[in-house]
Amino acid sequence: MNEHHTPSSPGGAVYEPTEYVHEKSWLTSLEQYQELYQQSVEDPETFWAEQAKEFLYWEKPWDKVLEWDFDDPHISWFAGGKTNVAYNCVDRHLHDGRRNKAAIIWESDERKSKVYTYQGVYNRVCRLANVLKAHGVKKGDVVAIYLPMVPEAVFSMLACARIGAIHTVVFSGFSATALRDRLQASQAKVLITADNGVRGGRINPLKAQADEALLEAPSVKTVIVVGRTRQEVDMMPGRDVYYHEEVSRDDISSHCDVEWVDAEDPLFILYTSGSTGKPKGIVHTTAGYLLGTAMTSKYTFDIRDDDVYFCTADVGWITGHSYITYGPMAIGATSIVFEGVPTYPDAGRFWDIVARHGVNQFYTAPTAIRSLMRSGDEFPNAHDLSSLRVIGSVGEPINPAAWEWYYHVIGHDRCSVVDTWWQTEGGAHMLTTIPGIMKMKPSAAGLPFFGMQPVVMNSEKEPSEAATGEEGRLCIKFPWPSMARGIWDDPGNARFKEVYFSQYPGLYFSGDAAVCDEDGYIWLKGRVDDVINVSGHRIGTAEIEASLNSHPEVAESAVVGFPHEIKGEGIYAYVVLKDGVDPDPGLDQILAGLVRKNIGPIAKPDVTHIVNELPKTRSGKIMRRILRKVAAGITDKEQYGDLSTLVDETVVDQIIDTRPHK
Ligand code: PRX
Repeated sequence: MNEHHTPSSPGGAVYEPTEYVHEKSWLTSLEQYQELYQQSVEDPETFWAEQAKEFLYWEKPWDKVLEWDFDDPHISWFAGGKTNVAYNCVDRHLHDGRRNKAAIIWESDERKSKVYTYQGVYNRVCRLANVLKAHGVKKGDVVAIYLPMVPEAVFSMLACARIGAIHTVVFSGFSATALRDRLQASQAKVLITADNGVRGGRINPLKAQADEALLEAPSVKTVIVVGRTRQEVDMMPGRDVYYHEEVSRDDISSHCDVEWVDAEDPLFILYTSGSTGKPKGIVHTTAGYLLGTAMTSKYTFDIRDDDVYFCTADVGWITGHSYITYGPMAIGATSIVFEGVPTYPDAGRFWDIVARHGVNQFYTAPTAIRSLMRSGDEFPNAHDLSSLRVIGSVGEPINPAAWEWYYHVIGHDRCSVVDTWWQTEGGAHMLTTIPGIMKMKPSAAGLPFFGMQPVVMNSEKEPSEAATGEEGRLCIKFPWPSMARGIWDDPGNARFKEVYFSQYPGLYFSGDAAVCDEDGYIWLKGRVDDVINVSGHRIGTAEIEASLNSHPEVAESAVVGFPHEIKGEGIYAYVVLKDGVDPDPGLDQILAGLVRKNIGPIAKPDVTHIVNELPKTRSGKIMRRILRKVAAGITDKEQYGDLSTLVDETVVDQIIDTRPHK
């Protein structure tokens, strides 16, 4: 084994799973995985019916395991079955010996922690569910959650699930405008927010932002405000109430009957960016989603009953939904909810949490790994990391150098690194490296999880042969229980079909490029659509362009990603000004401010490049591949491919010549 070899494609370093992980792993051999995997694809209905019985409580059994169609997309798992996500994640554990077990350990920005047992979560979720009901929330209504990483975020999700309401969590780093758009699109009836958020010692005025959004979101009739900092904020009489006052009212009981819902009733909507237009509200339903998250929590993270599990994501993203709240709680695990940032008070914060809480499974994103790696080994080395067994990565391809650092410095050459590839639309891990039994290849996501049938399609739209090293587009052939069922407010599933099922008829298209090697390991090569993956967060170029174009002096713009050492991808904006407008030296900042206002700080361009014109084909299409090359610093036109369809090739020279940071 050559530890210093750092490939980013097949044929490089391989690490065998260690005995340290294997001696306790749920799955005991690769053969066992293969056998189960085989069953899961040869007879999916029997396989999933067995898993659904093992992992979930059913108030009423289902009528039909699976119905599906990928042409006119329609997917249904366990239809007719009745269950409830909150019952599965909380109530069940009051009677299975976990009543006094820690469900959530909350670690505040200031390094204080608070433990909530399953009984404690039950009481809080029931009280909040009763408060929602008292404010008129019924099954099928939408409740928006715009909260920082406080335990009330988890209670809010579960309270909605308990009464059959559909939640839509909006990342607290999003701006008032982004929140407004999501409130309008989902027609939310209630908004749960906080007075302020606290991250890295800084205050984020959430209520003030919510107030701005609410000016144009009339569907919201009630705003429930969590007092995080307890500073005074504006409260609109008749609309705004304080969370702590509502849940402690004498007439609010700490018992709330469960609403038994259909397996296919929606659990939540989560807005995510795509190639075009506004973010799409991805809809996940009840039973299949919970089954996928529960099962992957058990097998990918290899969680044991006395383990402490820590996922560093924010509940505003799918990773937080599936792997802070639903998956871990469905299997009765102890999950850490961390409010802060990895670098506050210093770059040892994660490792301090691992040591103080005895974390066994740790799950983060490559961007965090890269930035902590840069801070130096003295931070991890100053903490006891010996409790760790499984360390996970998610959000973007992990580069080999970051993988190696994670494995050696954090995992002490003995933990399993699980590189989990999946998406908002997938609900749960789709490709993964199961710990203790699968060898690890730095930068490869690994093998399909049970039931997943990936296929890499080549440029002829044929499945590419494994082991040829041929890059293609990653598609999935067969439905899986936790997959999205559609897009919110999309009559006839038209947009759902167009985005995911039209490029490769009969297949689900992921939007990612990939290579499959001789062992069936899949190596992800990034998005092939106009989505930029910035620090593991998906941002649509169209959304950023719309913000830039809203400036009165901007004629048009084109945004592309470029390789960025820490963020994975950075944002590069090409901007054409209107005729006669002279670029003002502060324009970069003004444009960045607009993007921040419309979307949030994560979408701000790293580079703004004012150009005379964009390279366009005769049919008027912007040739983005050229823009990507220039952004990546490739200025040799030989490497640009065919330019003959451009209206004016000199546009390209002008762009190269004016490139900033040459
Ligand atoms: O491009 C892939 C990348 O993130 C995209 C999904 O983004 P999102 O829906 O926001 O979900 C992120 C968390 C699951 C994918 O299309 N991606 C995610 N995980 C990986 C990855 N790329 C490579 N390796 C991964 N492990």
